[in-house]
Amino acid sequence: MPRVAVMISGTGTLLQSLIDDPRRTYDIVAVAADRPAQGLARAEAAGIPTVVVRPSDHPDRPSWSRALAKMLGTFEPDWVVSAGFMRILDAAFLDRFPQRVVNSHPALLPAFPGAHAVPEALAYGVKLTGCTVHLVDAGVDTGPIIAQQSVPVEPDDTEQTLHERIKEVEWQLLPEVVQALATKGCTVNGRKVEL
Ligand code: GRF
Repeated sequence: MPRVAVMISGTGTLLQSLIDDPRRTYDIVAVAADRPAQGLARAEAAGIPTVVVRPSDHPDRPSWSRALAKMLGTFEPDWVVSAGFMRILDAAFLDRFPQRVVNSHPALLPAFPGAHAVPEALAYGVKLTGCTVHLVDAGVDTGPIIAQQSVPVEPDDTEQTLHERIKEVEWQLLPEVVQALATKGCTVNGRKVEL
């Protein structure tokens, strides 16, 4: 069975959507976090090994990301999914899993990259936003796009109501993409990704 590792920082609802996907024919072999994230309890409840690799336990960013990559490497994942993992992954990490790291971002990239995509989209006044599942490269949410889905912005939206509407779509899209990647892989031609 294909092996998938997941990385989280927060509540882990995206992780839960992967755990609960009835179509899933891959193993979630480990869940890693950069802090004692609330979502780790979801992995534990599902019997999935968890690891916490904190940046503050390492002298600098490259040594932290090497340690994280090494730790994940021990689980021999075919794919690594960043599901609400709020850190930028550098070359030291990505070189270990070339073209094998996937992220879900709560906006229609290339609009609103970075950690504040939802409030920035709201503040800009866009009428349509959404989510993007993409391969991770060394930039901030700049990797080749695998799949996107749009979400309307309602006039009375707050950051919370809009993010919740986006997450509902992420809970569908991310499991669908990870299932396809894990079982069939993808071809990458420049910026074009085909599942
Ligand atoms: C998702 O919207 C993800 O795109 C963003 O953080 C959220 C993760 O939520 N980066 P959760 O921790 O999985 O509930």
